[in-house]
Amino acid sequence: MDLFEAIAGRRSVRKYKPDPVPDGVLARALEAGSFAPSGHNRQPWRFVVVRDPGRRRALADAAAPHNSFIAEAPVVVAFLGFLAHEGAPAPDARTRGSWTWDMYVRYNVAIAAAYVTLAATAEGLGTCWINNYDEERVRTVLNVPEQYALVCLMTLGYAAEEPPAKPRLPLAELRFDEEVEPGRDG
Ligand SMILES: Cc1cc2nc3c(=O)[nH]c(=O)nc-3n(C[C@H](O)[C@H](O)[C@H](O)COP(=O)(O)O)c2cc1C
Repeated sequence: MDLFEAIAGRRSVRKYKPDPVPDGVLARALEAGSFAPSGHNRQPWRFVVVRDPGRRRALADAAAPHNSFIAEAPVVVAFLGFLAHEGAPAPDARTRGSWTWDMYVRYNVAIAAAYVTLAATAEGLGTCWINNYDEERVRTVLNVPEQYALVCLMTLGYAAEEPPAKPRLPLAELRFDEEVEPGRDG
């Protein structure tokens, strides 16, 4: 599968076959995440792989009701951002104007998570990015201490549905040339 095929063919999958995901397949998808760019090459992403059905159930219970499919996906990965590694700003220097260290780490990790969705697609897996959950409950289920930001959960598994493509804004609506056109976005 070429890259654009994976990008354009990826769908959020919310129904999964019970078939297990071989660890080699999962590892390739996660390794793709490790190739993402990051500020100063800090690579703040960490991946918590959850296969245990009881823990997946607990994650589903910690999430919004529409995310109950978490319990049925054979794998759930929590994407964490390591906030406190060597070279991280001191706690009192983690905010500069509208910039925060937490936000910066989070978008580094989000790039890695996006890479994982694409590599998983190329491996024949479906994924769904999940952000609607009770963060404190998820942290408790996964034993996540303060020095990690919880960026998102992602379900992975072999799809038991073929979701249609969701509409996308035409490029002409997204692109400005040279400068922002006043009033275009209302
Ligand atoms: C930041 C973010 C948060 C999301 N949260 C959820 C979620 O909590 N539950 C869910 O079912 N889908 C969630 N999604 C998936 C989106 O609904 C989905 O990407 C969007 O509708 C476009 O559909 P597609 O991924 O099939 O192209 C999330 C996606 C992103 C990027």
